[in-house]
Amino acid sequence: MHKQTNLTRRGFIQHAAAGSAALTWLGSGQGPNLFAAETARPALLGGKPAHAGGWPAWPTWRESWEPAVLEVLRSRRWFRGSGQTVAEFEEAYAKLMGAKRCLATASGTTALLVSLHVMDVDAGDEVIVSPYTFIATYNAVLINKALPVFADTDPATLTMDPASIESRITDRTRAILPVHIFGLPCDMDPINAIAKRHQLAVVEDACQAWLAEYHGRKCGTLGDLGCFSFQESKHLPSGEGGAVTGNSDALMDRCTAFHNCGRATGGFKGERPYFTRGSNYRMQHFQAAILTQQLDKLVSDTARRRANADYLSAQLRQIPGVQPVRLPADSRAVWHLYPFRYDSREFSGLSRDHFMRALGAEGVPVSSVYHEQYFDGLMDEAIESRGFKRLFSPQRLKAYRDSFQELKGNRQACAATVAMTQNMLLAERSDMDHIVEAIRKIRAHSAALAKA
Ligand SMILES: Cc1ncc(COP(=O)(O)O)c(C=O)c1O
Repeated sequence: MHKQTNLTRRGFIQHAAAGSAALTWLGSGQGPNLFAAETARPALLGGKPAHAGGWPAWPTWRESWEPAVLEVLRSRRWFRGSGQTVAEFEEAYAKLMGAKRCLATASGTTALLVSLHVMDVDAGDEVIVSPYTFIATYNAVLINKALPVFADTDPATLTMDPASIESRITDRTRAILPVHIFGLPCDMDPINAIAKRHQLAVVEDACQAWLAEYHGRKCGTLGDLGCFSFQESKHLPSGEGGAVTGNSDALMDRCTAFHNCGRATGGFKGERPYFTRGSNYRMQHFQAAILTQQLDKLVSDTARRRANADYLSAQLRQIPGVQPVRLPADSRAVWHLYPFRYDSREFSGLSRDHFMRALGAEGVPVSSVYHEQYFDGLMDEAIESRGFKRLFSPQRLKAYRDSFQELKGNRQACAATVAMTQNMLLAERSDMDHIVEAIRKIRAHSAALAKA
């Protein structure tokens, strides 16, 4: 396995033996300071880092993938319309996802743009969106000149709270856009039931959820259309890239036509060649060649990530103030990032930023990921634009802007989440122990850290 650094791995067994008695005690729900003297000092206070080695590098490549890329290069067929490599990837990806069809796109963002267009999201419409997401989800709606109306986030699951959806529906609502963030499946049954009751489309943002499962089916195949990203940080990377999956030939033909400048596709045709609107959102063969080579690796990496995540969750649940996410019943996450909820009250008031700095010093890189991005100015810019003012009444835009204040679950999720980077779950089981050890150590010394 490639490593980002070649530092000698600290002998965990040796180190753990010294601290194991204290670790057992600390897991018993006692106060954070009780056995501090018995545990190693945190790195931020001059101790030895819990994890001295690096973490698996990302992305990686194998020599065995090179011939497929060279073949595209030497074929001189680089544009999608002149070769078969993209179509081969589409077939393989659809099969892996259990979808009838797949359309490869230039990116996850363009997969969302295609899907929203095909589900007839038009200027002046509203789309109910998960606010806890990468900004591309908001942008895909805004670029269609529609309003991304935020459902609330369930802080325990980090996904759209289905109970918050119905109160957001207006006569303009056209679609629901749930996000399987970090590869955590949304609770899709209630979301689909609400969509059906109100005749709304469901477009899944599965851009971080390759192979995630809900009730035995893959995320991205549970609504009308599903969108994936293959950007470089993703579990299936090709630098840039994306896909739309779906089970309806009629919808997928429309997607294909729209992403290919409006060219007739399958049963979606007219009297003239360019009878429908479209754009150029096509994938290149170079991207597809790299992607097809990685499908087996995606499956094996996912199994490894799941095993490490399960182990980590079981360990972290023993530590007061650290809460792994809750998944819907009968679902399996793929852990793009590994998030947990941090409660500073159990860490002597140590702020989340300070906790993250202490973890970083232990050799465990983490981040707070998403914040309340709707306060950053992008939404104001959109709703103050000429177009939005033409499309929505001043009352609607004011009520919309005011509604951001009510997203209490999302506020909590943004304030308390700490997430490990996506490569970490590909490491060894002993590396997971280092993460647990680092957090226990920080908790044991949290009072001293808070004062430092
Ligand atoms: C949740 C989510 N939606 C959409 C996207 C957009 O994908 P891309 O970067 O491939 O355009 C991403 C990518 O980071 C994402 O994480």
